[in-house]
Amino acid sequence: MAFQTITVDIEDHVALIKLNRPDALNALNTELLGELCTALEAADENDKVRCVVLAGSDKAFAAGADIKEMSEKSFVEVFEENLFASTNDRITAIRKPIIAAVSGYALGGGCELAMMCDFIIAADNAKFGQPEINLGVIAGMGGSQRLTRFVGKSKSMDMNLTGRFMDAEEAERAGLVSRVVPAKKLMEEAMAAAQKVAEKSQLSVLAVKESVNRSYELTLNEGMLFERRVFHSMFATEDQKEGMAAFLEKREAQFRDR
Ligand code: HXC
Repeated sequence: MAFQTITVDIEDHVALIKLNRPDALNALNTELLGELCTALEAADENDKVRCVVLAGSDKAFAAGADIKEMSEKSFVEVFEENLFASTNDRITAIRKPIIAAVSGYALGGGCELAMMCDFIIAADNAKFGQPEINLGVIAGMGGSQRLTRFVGKSKSMDMNLTGRFMDAEEAERAGLVSRVVPAKKLMEEAMAAAQKVAEKSQLSVLAVKESVNRSYELTLNEGMLFERRVFHSMFATEDQKEGMAAFLEKREAQFRDR
């Protein structure tokens, strides 16, 4: 597939998708979001892909939704086209894990896009923010909802009301990112993490993603029941027999996704 605003490389079972609008700090316009969703769906369908890494440039993961494109739109237009609804729905429907590798700015829709991924590895120069308030609007793709679940009410209110940026260290402390690495090592670390995921049984990997995501939607008791039933169901797989036998025989497991 030929893309204009992203690049896609598949290597060793990992699809690396890079946002590529350097002149606009990877601002998320309609074309980019469409291409990104198409590439993610293709990766989800591709048997060779077991994990996805989503990255931007050194300077910007993405500096937000494209302000130029949005600025002249009317309420009726954004309401009728249900702006950003399908992006949210298509990305959150991806079953394989997506790791966000964030260097530089992840602002507005950029921060929201990173939060739609399954976990975020941040370079030490990363800056996260929801500065939509400076534009006379509010977040529209999870900045008031997902960010609050990540960092709690006080910090989320602070970010959304003042529009200030959070650096990588604060983001890690607050639970927004899973780890911070030196900027020069970001891609190496993100690809290594994806490689680790790719080595596992794909059945367990898909089940983990579904179970963790359920924790946002269900009560604790319902979530525990969901997790326990999925855990039970794994005993129907060959990979469970192989994984446990390999441990007892002190060897590496050879998972076959069966
Ligand atoms: C369109 C953008 C852009 C954006 C940067 N650019 N962010 N274009 N939409 N969100 C463009 C600039 O216009 C400029 O183009 C070029 O990228 C370089 O940006 P500079 O501002 O010159 O760079 P710098 O001085 O280094 O400042 C970096 C920055 C700043 C702090 C990230 O660009 C900035 O504040 N950007 C906007 C951040 C923002 O408000 N994001 C939220 C968007 S609203 P030219 O042509 O002048 O060189 C949003 C809504 C979400 O995301 C709703 C759901 C998705």
